[in-house]
Amino acid sequence: MEKMAVTDAEVGVLAHLLRKVDFFSPLTVGQMEKILPHIRLFSYDRGETVFSQGEQGDAFYILSTGKVSVRMKNGFFSFTKTVSSLGPGSFFGEIALISDAPRGATVVCEEPCQIFVLVAADFKFVLHENPAAAEEMAKIAARRKFDSAHTK
Ligand code: CMP
Repeated sequence: MEKMAVTDAEVGVLAHLLRKVDFFSPLTVGQMEKILPHIRLFSYDRGETVFSQGEQGDAFYILSTGKVSVRMKNGFFSFTKTVSSLGPGSFFGEIALISDAPRGATVVCEEPCQIFVLVAADFKFVLHENPAAAEEMAKIAARRKFDSAHTK
């Protein structure tokens, strides 16, 4: 994993990408401007793990390019199942932050990926500023938990 300098052009890409992410779309330009400088861009190789199930969650992730898989293990001896694949514009890592719980799954890069990262405090700021976005995020998290529990 390598930290990338966010160029002006990438800030533009990010602003555009965030507008398409449901969670950020209700933000006003002013709110968006407060968040953008805090977002970091990281580059990952194919096969690299972004974070592992059971770890403490300290950030929220938005996939800019590439593809990740979400893998989950139930119990120490059980097999790992892939519960989802996510592509550009998708976000992940929200559940641990919302529920104050450990990471519920491992996220692995299936391709080289560029991922925007927002630390927990900034993520919580966005939720605090946007009750509608917070509600939407809670719904998505609940749906994902349900889907994961029902994936064979
Ligand atoms: P978190 O539990 O913080 O870390 C693992 C992440 O995987 C989780 O947040 C969600 O963002 C994501 N995730 C878990 N289950 C699913 C699912 N069924 N579909 C898509 N993403 C998921």
